Amino acid sequence: MAPTLLSKLKDKSLFIEQCFVDGQWTPARSGKTFNVENPAINEVLGTCPECSKEDTETAIAAAAQAFESFRTTTARSRARLLRKWYNLMVENAEDLSLLITLENGKVLGEARGEVAYAASFLEWFSEEAPRTYGDTIPATNPGNQIVTIKEPVGVCALVTPWNFPAAMITRKVGAALAAGCTVVIKSPAETPFTANALAELAHRAGIPKGVINVITTDKNIVEVGHTLTSSPLVRKVSFTGSTNIGKLLMRQCAEITLKKISLELGGNAPFIVFDDADINAAVQGALISKFRSSGQTCVCANRIFVQDAVYDRFAEKLAAHVRDKFAVGDSLISSEVTHGPLIHDRAVAKVHEHVTDAVAKGARILAGGQKVPELGPNYFQPTVLAAMTCDMKLATEETFGPVAGLFRFKTEQEVVRLANNTDMGLAAYIFTKDNQKAWRTAKGLEVGMVGLNTGLISDAAAPFGGIKSSGLGREGSKYGIDEYLTVKMITIGGLDTPV
Ligand code: SIN
Repeated sequence: MAPTLLSKLKDKSLFIEQCFVDGQWTPARSGKTFNVENPAINEVLGTCPECSKEDTETAIAAAAQAFESFRTTTARSRARLLRKWYNLMVENAEDLSLLITLENGKVLGEARGEVAYAASFLEWFSEEAPRTYGDTIPATNPGNQIVTIKEPVGVCALVTPWNFPAAMITRKVGAALAAGCTVVIKSPAETPFTANALAELAHRAGIPKGVINVITTDKNIVEVGHTLTSSPLVRKVSFTGSTNIGKLLMRQCAEITLKKISLELGGNAPFIVFDDADINAAVQGALISKFRSSGQTCVCANRIFVQDAVYDRFAEKLAAHVRDKFAVGDSLISSEVTHGPLIHDRAVAKVHEHVTDAVAKGARILAGGQKVPELGPNYFQPTVLAAMTCDMKLATEETFGPVAGLFRFKTEQEVVRLANNTDMGLAAYIFTKDNQKAWRTAKGLEVGMVGLNTGLISDAAAPFGGIKSSGLGREGSKYGIDEYLTVKMITIGGLDTPV
């Protein structure tokens, strides 16, 4: 472990360089490991096991074994376990935040926000666990009565991304455990230590062995992914990540077995500012939505459409804030830093490509626009581009970085058409004071989530998910638990026998 990390963690036993199978911390059977780097300084933070097919099968078998008893536990007892895990997350919030910043690069303030957000899913699902009600249904056939009960799906494979090292785990595991499922988590190669710390806290909370298993891998990802999607013991796969990988997993889930599946995939969020909007609120909304986690969230505004009459004023205010108030760097070195590094140099290369392409096609740089090599290979300046057009890469591809591209539009019909001109359909944002226009536009947008006069829609109480190539299913909210349940119908006959 890097000495800086060692000295800052209050509970050093939360830094774990192993995987978690059947209640035990363990290396890979091969003994192989991979390095995990701090993207802020490109130094190795530590290593994690390079798990293989065999390691994955062991974890799946442990989850299947644990399911036999966990499925029979009462919903109230599972609620209490989730609540204990939530309490431990809150108690250890500083250490978890530090781990997130160290392995993901997001600034410490944002990491603290993520820990609170992540913990809120455990709290939420501890409250949902006892409320998975069934129905009683009048039957068509005389003398019959129909009832439904909800049952846990079984062993779930959860494949999580690096952009929210804690929240994307608790959003899935909280729902799965509340439903009575057991899980095998494939944590991201970039950010395995937060996942491990969460598993350790789950263990301390008394979650029984085998209920949560965490496997880590970097190079063996294809083999591990295939093992998870093809195992007959795994009944559900939940994945957050790119659309291409989501499609691949979905195909694999249907090859040998047929699994329930949830996919939270890419976005290309339109952010629409009508000319009657509160411009200061719209600028604040765009700053939050676009630059949260340095633009590395699926719900980040990607295409910012501003109506003609307010375009220049909005552009000027947004660019001024980005130029004057944002500071890029390592938040563990300076508390002035507002935005950290991107996850790796490939992310920087994509952002650079989008900016270069836009400028070559006529965009104007109002702020930023450059890499920051003096800080390291993973830094890119928060950027505002004006005069964007639909032939630019940023218009059709998710940038996943700190670039706000401003498109000009004239009419409501035009902007809805432009906003929907993408395969993606995750989130959208609308700023206007006109309720009727807001409602019409919200209904017209082909997305799963709309922020109306707000740039922040993430909330454990809100159903998170997309349509079109942005995925299937919903996470969080009262709907999230259904992804881990099946409905069983029982028809009771012979009830009209005369006395
Ligand atoms: C994501 O980017 O996948 C999740 C973002 C969120 O929950 O706010």
